[in-house]
Amino acid sequence: MSSLFILLFVLFFFSILSNFHLAKSQRSSVIGDTIDTNKYVSIASTIVSSNGNFEMGFFTAGNNSNYYIGIWYKKLSKQTVIWVANRETPISIYEMDFAQFKISDGNLVLLNGTRQIIWSTNITFASNLNKSQVVATLLDDGNLVVRDGDSNVSANHLWRSFDHPSHTFMPGSKFGYNKRTGMKQVLTSWKNANDPSPGPFTHEVDMEKYAGQGVIKWNHSVIYWNSGPWTGNNFTGVPYQPNPMFNYTYVNNDDEVYFRYDFFNPSLISNFIMDVNGQTKQLLWMDSIQDWNVFYTDPKQVCDVFGYCGAFGTCNDQVNASSTCGCLVGFKPKFEKDWKLNSFSSGCTRRTSLNCGDAGEKDKFWMHKNMRLPANGESVRAENEVKCESLCLENCDCVGYAYDIGKYGCLIWKGEMLNLEQLSQDNVNGSTIYVRLAASEFSTNQDANQNQTSNKLKVAIPIGVIAALLFLSCFAFIYYRKRRSSKVKESATKSIRQNAEGEGMELIDIQDDDKGNIDVPFFSFESILVATDDFSEQNKLGQGGFGPVYKGIFPGGREIAVKRLSSLSGQGINEFKNEVMLIARLQHRNLVRLLGYCIQSNEKILLYEYMANKSLDTFIFDRRRGVILDWRKRFEIIEGIAKGLLYLHHDSRLRIIHRDLKTSNILLDEELNPKISDFGLARVVEGKITQANTNKVVGTYGYMAPEYAIDGLFSIKSDVFSFGIVILEIISGRRNTGFFHQEEESNLLGHAWRLWTEDRAMDLVDQSLHESCNKEEAIKCLNIGLLCVQEDPKDRPNTSSIIMMLGSENIVSLPRPNQPAFMTRKCGGGNTSSSSNVKSDGVSNNQLTVTIEMGR
Ligand SMILES: *[C@@H]1O[C@H](CO)[C@@H](O)[C@H](O)[C@H]1NC(C)=O
Ligand SMILES: *[C@@H]1O[C@H](CO)[C@@H](O)[C@H](O)[C@H]1NC(C)=O
Ligand SMILES: *[C@@H]1O[C@H](CO)[C@@H](O)[C@H](O)[C@H]1NC(C)=O
Ligand SMILES: *[C@@H]1O[C@H](CO)[C@@H](O)[C@H](O)[C@H]1NC(C)=O
Ligand SMILES: *[C@@H]1O[C@H](CO)[C@@H](O)[C@H](O)[C@H]1NC(C)=O
Ligand SMILES: *[C@@H]1O[C@H](CO)[C@@H](O)[C@H](O)[C@H]1NC(C)=O
Ligand SMILES: *[C@@H]1O[C@H](CO)[C@@H](O)[C@H](O)[C@H]1NC(C)=O
Ligand SMILES: *[C@@H]1O[C@H](CO)[C@@H](O)[C@H](O)[C@H]1NC(C)=O
Ligand SMILES: *[C@@H]1O[C@H](CO)[C@@H](O)[C@H](O)[C@H]1NC(C)=O
Ligand SMILES: *[C@@H]1O[C@H](CO)[C@@H](O)[C@H](O)[C@H]1NC(C)=O
Repeated sequence: MSSLFILLFVLFFFSILSNFHLAKSQRSSVIGDTIDTNKYVSIASTIVSSNGNFEMGFFTAGNNSNYYIGIWYKKLSKQTVIWVANRETPISIYEMDFAQFKISDGNLVLLNGTRQIIWSTNITFASNLNKSQVVATLLDDGNLVVRDGDSNVSANHLWRSFDHPSHTFMPGSKFGYNKRTGMKQVLTSWKNANDPSPGPFTHEVDMEKYAGQGVIKWNHSVIYWNSGPWTGNNFTGVPYQPNPMFNYTYVNNDDEVYFRYDFFNPSLISNFIMDVNGQTKQLLWMDSIQDWNVFYTDPKQVCDVFGYCGAFGTCNDQVNASSTCGCLVGFKPKFEKDWKLNSFSSGCTRRTSLNCGDAGEKDKFWMHKNMRLPANGESVRAENEVKCESLCLENCDCVGYAYDIGKYGCLIWKGEMLNLEQLSQDNVNGSTIYVRLAASEFSTNQDANQNQTSNKLKVAIPIGVIAALLFLSCFAFIYYRKRRSSKVKESATKSIRQNAEGEGMELIDIQDDDKGNIDVPFFSFESILVATDDFSEQNKLGQGGFGPVYKGIFPGGREIAVKRLSSLSGQGINEFKNEVMLIARLQHRNLVRLLGYCIQSNEKILLYEYMANKSLDTFIFDRRRGVILDWRKRFEIIEGIAKGLLYLHHDSRLRIIHRDLKTSNILLDEELNPKISDFGLARVVEGKITQANTNKVVGTYGYMAPEYAIDGLFSIKSDVFSFGIVILEIISGRRNTGFFHQEEESNLLGHAWRLWTEDRAMDLVDQSLHESCNKEEAIKCLNIGLLCVQEDPKDRPNTSSIIMMLGSENIVSLPRPNQPAFMTRKCGGGNTSSSSNVKSDGVSNNQLTVTIEMGR
């Protein structure tokens, strides 16, 4: 007995040594498409479907050292596992030499290192079946079936992997449930990209609440998406686009309910998966990019996935967000490893534990504004906010509260906070939530805009005053409108026109050598209200630094982008009009054209040509849309932006410094030609700027040159800096996440610089571009990009030399860049005073378009 033990031990030890070799020897032998009583699958053998498309055997995912039995596409260059047997019972690398996947007593079973069954098909047999004839075959569609070796008829299959899917729903398989046996197909997400064990998200056809409809659930209970009922053609909740690739079939009869899809062209490779992030995705393999293309997701927005960012995580879907998931202030990712693999559902954990009940300083509350409140708030009775806060503070289980007398009164949360989302400032559904933290967090997270417990009453008064003012001004506005409408609209319009033109003499003077007088049409506020449906949310195209942009449909179906300037400036009507006329004179194919303007009381509105393809950032940071811009196109876009910038800086008779150049300000027309937008707006909003030094910094984190962000100095060279960032983003497909970032790796500048110094320029280039990329041009662009972001403005090239360099054939002759700015200026360094000016709260700080009052 003990000698057997020693033998086993020796074998085990030996296996550890030999394992790496075996794992590398790549499942050398294929033993056909069938497992029978004489053949089994081990670390050294696999089975392959007869058409060679699918393979089954042991696999590991990424760096995970556990082994699983799975089925994957054999011919694809990227490991894609469609089915896993032992998701919950992995086999460690040390057992692998002994593990077997075989037929045993009529069942397909998985044996671990000590030859014990850790997974089984659990078939119950009819008495007339001869168990020693049972075999398992991997079919051509990826279905593993257990059957009587004498019968090929699918009705006689004893067991099918398609009936027990993991996270993939394959073409031709059924997805639903059997009304008689209750057996159902559930797609369960992986824990993370390297770990097939079951994650929290499931997709199934619901038996009860949504009888027969597809639903996606969190933790088997919270339903956060459903397909809506079947109309005979489509599901009401699924935007079904008739397509030439596949058809859907939905069956609901006395025996079963299921959903199935079939490709007309069987050579297309596609599937549905329940992704680790809680979205169902339909994927299509693209040979051109050697990768999966996601062409459909449910729910559309990741923040609609329940608990996407896990406990105490916040989701941010806004376009300018640097990352979708973050932890609340005072929290950090629970498992850094998961987060790095883009699986956030494990959530965040406190940095410092709470101090409830003990002696010492009491816990405090950190305020988060504009949040979607977490799930499962408990409603408690409290007559005011102070009481609500103290109710939470006294309860050691309470982790936070929110108070809104009109909406929900006092809500408190116990345990974990799930499903938080950072909403935009103007979202009506946003609430303020107070999250409990240990008092010590408040000294480490000093942040001026944090409103702590003791400040609450002080804040309440100004808010009251503001509310009263708002009320009064609304009243005044209504009164004003009433009066107005009694007049004839046209005459009012005319008077503004005349007034503006009468004092615009100077403007007319300088127009004389133009081909014709450029007259920007005046649009009445009423016509804009009609065109934008009263500036409705649906028509909102985006939010720029100077105000929101709406789509307006004018008479004749003409589409125009309407920019409603925030009423920041104290500029008068005439000054504003002059500025508009000046800007209207700037005409270039790489600038968005100004089509009109409107002034009425406090409203200042500019009308631009509408760009159907939206902005550059919606392409380059999106894997799907990114593919549309191949290298050729991207290079042309870089050149186009440079030409537009050259025109602004040198060629027009006005010298315009853009001050907010970034990918979201580059719009693309139908032919994907770039057009710079928002140029000249800094002038319009701020009036005449005579000095190159301003006490208001307008711009966007991540694109601002250091001398501008810190000292308020702007120049052509600060635009060049922003352009450098834009170039780097275009070639890398990555956002520059701001400059005061601790980790060099997550800062695009640092990353680009490192690759440059290591001579690995091509590693920066977006994966999707590798096929189309011209290496010389890519290196040239990186070189120019880095020249533009040098610390000293004097070192940066001007726009005309950028254009020359872009056109130059000889990349060896380009100057070598110096280390970029901000590499040496990190948080907590010598420049604390400057960094604290631009630092904002830790959750979602980057790419904020703001006007910062500099303390000088
Ligand atoms: C595996 O680990 C190495 C080092 O720990 C890391 O560099 C690599 O990115 C990891 N690969 C994956 C796929 O996680
Ligand atoms: C094999 O599985 C059995 C049953 O689950 C377990 O008791 C045993 O420890 C496993 N063997 C190894 C080497 O893990
Ligand atoms: C087989 O039955 C065992 C015990 O009931 C269960 O734990 C296991 O999950 C079943 N296996 C499958 C594949 O359903
Ligand atoms: C079952 O099948 C095996 C092999 O085909 C055969 O040897 C055996 O006699 C059969 N047993 C019965 C009870 O039919
Ligand atoms: C089952 O089908 C395969 C081909 O699909 C064929 O080669 C084999 O002979 C069939 N076996 C029986 C028992 O019909
Ligand atoms: C799912 O719910 C169960 C019971 O409510 C809980 O114990 C478990 O932690 C939850 N799982 C996740 C991933 O939150
Ligand atoms: C679903 O099909 C109906 C016709 O049966 C059609 O009118 C409707 O527009 C379709 N809905 C969607 C979302 O495609
Ligand atoms: C869907 O397409 C498959 C494959 O072409 C075909 O066999 C099936 O009949 C089609 N079903 C419907 C409902 O059109
Ligand atoms: C606010 O919430 C309601 C109800 O959940 C939703 O219909 C609406 O679209 C939300 N509004 C915004 C701006 O998200
Ligand atoms: C995104 O832009 C909006 C509106 O400009 C702003 O309120 C919000 O704070 C920005 N978010 C981030 C993360 O920069």
